[in-house]
Amino acid sequence: MNRDRRRFLSQIFKTGTGLAAGRFLASLGYAQTSATTGPARAILNQARYRSDLDRRILGSFLEHLGRAIYTGVYEPGSKLADENGFRKDVIAEVSGLGVPIVRYPGGNFVSGYNWLDGVGPKAQRPTVLERAWDSLEPNQFGTNEFIEWCKLVNTEPLIGFNFGTGSTEMAVALVEYCNVEKGTKWSDLRRAHGYAQPHGVKYWCLGNEMDGPWQMGHMTSRAYGQKARDCARQIRIVDPATKLIACGSSNTFIDTYLVWDREVLEECYDQVDGISLHSYYGNTSILTGNDSARYLAMNLDMERQIHEVSAVCDYVQGLLKSPKRLWLSFDEWNVWYRARGGLFQDGQKTFAPHLLEEVYNLEDALLVGGFLNTLLRQSDRVRVACLAQLLNVIAPLVTNADKVLRQSIYYPFAWALKYAHGRVLDLQIESAETYPIKAAGLRADFARNDDIPFLDVVATMDPQNGQVSLFMLNRDLTAERELMVDWRDPAPVKVLACETLTGPDLKAFNTFDDPLHVAPAKMDAPAIGAKMTFKLPPRSYTVVQIAT
Ligand code: AHR
Repeated sequence: MNRDRRRFLSQIFKTGTGLAAGRFLASLGYAQTSATTGPARAILNQARYRSDLDRRILGSFLEHLGRAIYTGVYEPGSKLADENGFRKDVIAEVSGLGVPIVRYPGGNFVSGYNWLDGVGPKAQRPTVLERAWDSLEPNQFGTNEFIEWCKLVNTEPLIGFNFGTGSTEMAVALVEYCNVEKGTKWSDLRRAHGYAQPHGVKYWCLGNEMDGPWQMGHMTSRAYGQKARDCARQIRIVDPATKLIACGSSNTFIDTYLVWDREVLEECYDQVDGISLHSYYGNTSILTGNDSARYLAMNLDMERQIHEVSAVCDYVQGLLKSPKRLWLSFDEWNVWYRARGGLFQDGQKTFAPHLLEEVYNLEDALLVGGFLNTLLRQSDRVRVACLAQLLNVIAPLVTNADKVLRQSIYYPFAWALKYAHGRVLDLQIESAETYPIKAAGLRADFARNDDIPFLDVVATMDPQNGQVSLFMLNRDLTAERELMVDWRDPAPVKVLACETLTGPDLKAFNTFDDPLHVAPAKMDAPAIGAKMTFKLPPRSYTVVQIAT
């Protein structure tokens, strides 16, 4: 670690990023962290809320990687495809989910992508050797097909630029191609390609993981920050309505973590709107000691990362005396640790190889519920987030030639999409019992001695219709836990839905032959009243929706 980085990190930690365990939990709404007995209590008052929810935090991600696009989204010739080659069963699943925003086309892929190869008459598009995943890319699905697909599934595009091998010129040209109506070189090319109306893409990523030595065109923070600034300035002339996201650190263990973010923002703060965070998690010896109780606490590691990057943003804001507060885009997050490395990531120069096809089990789904709780809780700062990814590649949905399978992690994601609306309430949690986690033997960024509440609870309320939703993770692996919801305002009237995801085997997963092995079950809700005690099964994630 160099001196500059050491000095910066020690300043950041002194100024409050490195919160002590009790203070950290207090920032999440937990009033008491010491071991107590009896039910935990969540005091609910609509006057206290954390954010007006930007539903873009419930986004997802599609990369030209493995079978995400080809044989996933797009499979001309399949009995399930429409006349444009889009899989109709996938369209039905994704529109059913109601994903608000989808990031595309990568990921590592984007850093070697020439978007011009993927537009215009399909017969003239080249097949190229894609170098991020060593795969064949026929370019039959490109920017315009993605926009068409977004319309079919009723989602918003979030498009990434090639900041690796690509020039600023071609990044700005892509915005002109997509967003300018007519009368210029690139807008007229789009029209010549059959799209008279501009696509109106608002959200853009200024590259992908440019801090990573694995990234094509990897560069220093200063060089990247200057390129991002220059590109953003030009883009704002082409289309001032765009929202631009700078590349932040691509994980918490990279040696440049937080220093990269600071230096990038020192170069481009005034020209960008948000900064990206990425993180993947796993139940491994080095990350959790293969301990499921530690694993289910990992959403609090995500929460720390959000606090740390927020602190860097605020530090640069103060340094530059800027009136602008940056927001965060957690545009890659998920569990990913089994289908990783070696042949899982090497397409061996083939078309649509089976890459990163992670099989998700019950404990992964519970943790994904925890991540969604964290994103909701931090939604005053995190405005965009993408479950990475959506289909076939580290994904809740998997296709074969005949159908789509819902993996275990589909369910918490679907619940957040269905039930989280309006405002995220600022619950006060009292008497929350905790269990200890230990630092010994774990990788530095996950090595913490801490006290973790067994229950992780978030609530939303839609001011339009008064409906309140509660999302409750019980991390206790062996015992049922009670949560008493103390309704101060509004008064509950009727339980509209109450479902839980649980089971005897944390390692259970779904297959095409047994697709509902891990699936939600209806749960009995307590009688309506000012105080309602929910009995949460061991190792469970539960959602309840209540009319008020
Ligand atoms: O989502 C898979 C890969 O993980 C992405 O391509 C990259 O951005 C990240 O490292």
